[in-house]
Amino acid sequence: MINKSTTEIRQMFLTFFQNKGHKIIPGSSLIPNNDQTLLFTNAGMNQFKNIFLGLESINHSRITTAQHCIRAGGKHNDLKNVGYTNRHHTFFEMLGNFSFDDYFKQDAIKYAWELLTGKNWFNIPENRFWITTYHTDDESYNIWIKEIGIPEDRVIRIGDNKGSIYASDNFWQMGNTGPCGPCTEIFYDHGESIIGNLPGSVDGYGDRYTEIWNIVFMQFNRYNDGSLKLLSKPFVDTGMGLERISAVLQNVHSNYEIDIFRELIASISKLIMLSDFNNNSSNKSLRVIADHIRSSVFLISDGVFPSNEGRGYVLRRIIRRAIYHGYMIGVKGLFFYKLVKPLIYLLDNNKIESQQITIEKILMNEERQFLRILDRGIKLLDYELSQLQGDILTGEIVFLLYDTYGVPFDVTADICYERGIKFDELGFYAAMEQQKSKSRNSSIFTSNYNNIIKIDKNSDFSGYEKIIQRSKVTAIFKNDQFVNVLHQNENGIIICDKTCFYAESGGQVGDSGIISNNYFQFVVSDTKKYAKAIGHIGKLISGSISLNDLVNTQIDIKRRNAISINHSATHLLHAALRKVLGNHVIQQGSLVTDKYLRFDFNHFSAMTAIEIDKIENIVNYQIRKNHSIVTTLMYLEEAKEKGLVIFKNDRCNVKVRVLNIGDFSTELCCGTHANRTGDIGLFRINSESSIAAGIRRIEAVTGQVAIDLMRSQSHLLSEISKLINTDVNNLLKKIKVTLDKVKLLEKSLNELKWKQVAQKIISLHKQVKKINEVNLLITNVDNMDFNQLRMIVDGLKNKLKLAIIVLFTIYNGKVNITVGVTSNLSTKINANDLIMFVSQRLGGKGGGRADIAQCVISNITIVHDLLFLIEEWIYSRLRLMNK
Ligand code: SER
Repeated sequence: MINKSTTEIRQMFLTFFQNKGHKIIPGSSLIPNNDQTLLFTNAGMNQFKNIFLGLESINHSRITTAQHCIRAGGKHNDLKNVGYTNRHHTFFEMLGNFSFDDYFKQDAIKYAWELLTGKNWFNIPENRFWITTYHTDDESYNIWIKEIGIPEDRVIRIGDNKGSIYASDNFWQMGNTGPCGPCTEIFYDHGESIIGNLPGSVDGYGDRYTEIWNIVFMQFNRYNDGSLKLLSKPFVDTGMGLERISAVLQNVHSNYEIDIFRELIASISKLIMLSDFNNNSSNKSLRVIADHIRSSVFLISDGVFPSNEGRGYVLRRIIRRAIYHGYMIGVKGLFFYKLVKPLIYLLDNNKIESQQITIEKILMNEERQFLRILDRGIKLLDYELSQLQGDILTGEIVFLLYDTYGVPFDVTADICYERGIKFDELGFYAAMEQQKSKSRNSSIFTSNYNNIIKIDKNSDFSGYEKIIQRSKVTAIFKNDQFVNVLHQNENGIIICDKTCFYAESGGQVGDSGIISNNYFQFVVSDTKKYAKAIGHIGKLISGSISLNDLVNTQIDIKRRNAISINHSATHLLHAALRKVLGNHVIQQGSLVTDKYLRFDFNHFSAMTAIEIDKIENIVNYQIRKNHSIVTTLMYLEEAKEKGLVIFKNDRCNVKVRVLNIGDFSTELCCGTHANRTGDIGLFRINSESSIAAGIRRIEAVTGQVAIDLMRSQSHLLSEISKLINTDVNNLLKKIKVTLDKVKLLEKSLNELKWKQVAQKIISLHKQVKKINEVNLLITNVDNMDFNQLRMIVDGLKNKLKLAIIVLFTIYNGKVNITVGVTSNLSTKINANDLIMFVSQRLGGKGGGRADIAQCVISNITIVHDLLFLIEEWIYSRLRLMNK
């Protein structure tokens, strides 16, 4: 058996498959591109999903990759196992070989065996391996026994052992929907000294037999209702955990003992000053910290930021779990962010190295925040556990700890596990579901991948060059159903073989325009993509349109130009943000319309006015430089090899458009753009705001819209200047002087009102009637506002000790009523009850307390009824009181 470093093993794998005709391509980002069904990239095959589903084609039939994966959320989640086993990680590298309608079961199995056991390759003794196959997959079973020569008792057939049909260790599925198929897995036996059961055992596995390679035969697409449909072509998708095969080849029994982890754990121990270096790779807290610093660093570097939602929340859970484990082994103060440096040192990865300071800053912020609440949260949990009757902690308490004290589910789970206490996981999720925002968030990642208008037509897009395109109608939909004809005044979706209409994607809205010939006119209000077809959504305003009609598709060029300049400005904005705020800025979303552009990006704090000005200046400077905007078509691998800045996660194989704006910005982009930056004319930021923790949003306008905006703002200034009798240059001074005057006037007005109130209290005091000991006053006062009424009522209550005061006034065309009752009376005569009574009868709005309440009635003709009602109500209560 060879003995190589992890880096060498990765390279050997790729070289082996390169020798077998595979193209080596880079892995994709941890954030899946355009895939709402997936939280994180969790397998090497993710970037090929659309190829498996037949939605995209590929120019290589054999590919090999080393893919960064996260399994800490969604269908594949190992978070809670990390620390407790030798082989689980939240972040790991998956080595894979893929066949697209090329070789199938036989070669896939033979290649795997040759790499593992071949003298020139890994050279692992054959008798260390065990194999599993799906129970109905006779073909794989026979290949292993008859062609490879594995003894029959070493091949285990595994059925649906996870509770439902196709739910099996040997039936691999990417998510709840999407590509899937039977698999055969290769296990390595670490030997008798390690505890563990054979694969497929009901009692769990232990660490003796470790699955090192999973070979999946992608044959089906799974739908939301659980049904499977055969894919048009079969594919091979394999995955070998780099850390696991390194453990085998470095002759250690735990992934945490391989070279990269040994060094990382040693650095961590040194940093947090743990002296016992020898046993550290089996210390579960150190394993957790070592694993979690890797996932945190890679996630942040791919653009995920800790937050309370979605991906950001998973990252937050990972970071907090690591910090808790530091706390548990006695680390004092901040430590987690300090691990970025030793990790980066081990990685030799330029992209991450350039982000070191940003990553440290993000982790430090998160750590500070969590340390403030951790102690309190843990004490509360200790208290709850000490009060526990039985051995189950309820889901509500776990949720309370999470929601109010920020103690993530996983930390509570760890603490409970340590103390032999179970907790009600389902109850936790039920409590969580009740929170609206959380449920919205969880639904984002459960959408059905297959839920699109089913159409197998292809539309060629000619809209980069043309604004009119002659074409043929290939499909018509009315109410999402396929029809042959659309009639006048009907809404529908028209598909053509060619079109110059851009379908909404990459944040850019779809084009609008007209589809017509001599017999009809169809007004297109929006354009969307349905698999490979482009759908024109709109209304037929004249004639009728039939399948196979020859038509002209013609876009609204004015609107398209406005959209295009906003799109080009978005690229300038992105580059300017990275220049001014730092390279951590990565696009998190965008919207490009004809009216404005919106750009979401990650940044820790609100931008200052100076930063916003700087950005505007840079973008406008680049506009004035009038760079030509050039697109080049190339394969993604080529783009990456050329070291072009790639912001988004992109799939392999597809030809990508690389957009260069002078030497200022390079991005991948499929959208439409201006020819030169000068076409943008002017760029103006309208707003900068926060949309989620760590995510900022800029809204901006360009071109004529920006000019109109500036003009209307300047008109507004002129109007205001005229109004306050000055010119624009002196406007600010004049407004300040005027505001000072207003303040003085308000002050004198208030003094006057006070005087009025004091006089009114004296004059009204004389009108009070006495009914058996109770002072009663129901009267109208002229022209007083609500505050004054209230002050008068309070003043009278103070003077009279046992009193009911009802004042009303007509003010600003409405009747204002204030009722005050001295507190010694208010249990019997409740001011709020009276106000409610009056409001209900006469249609008023208001409320208050038992001793003071107010309401407004819009109809002033009811004054007479009002008096009558109030008197009736009060007298009846007084009568009751005296009985
Ligand atoms: N997709 C399979 C897995 O992740 C094989 O790569 O295990």
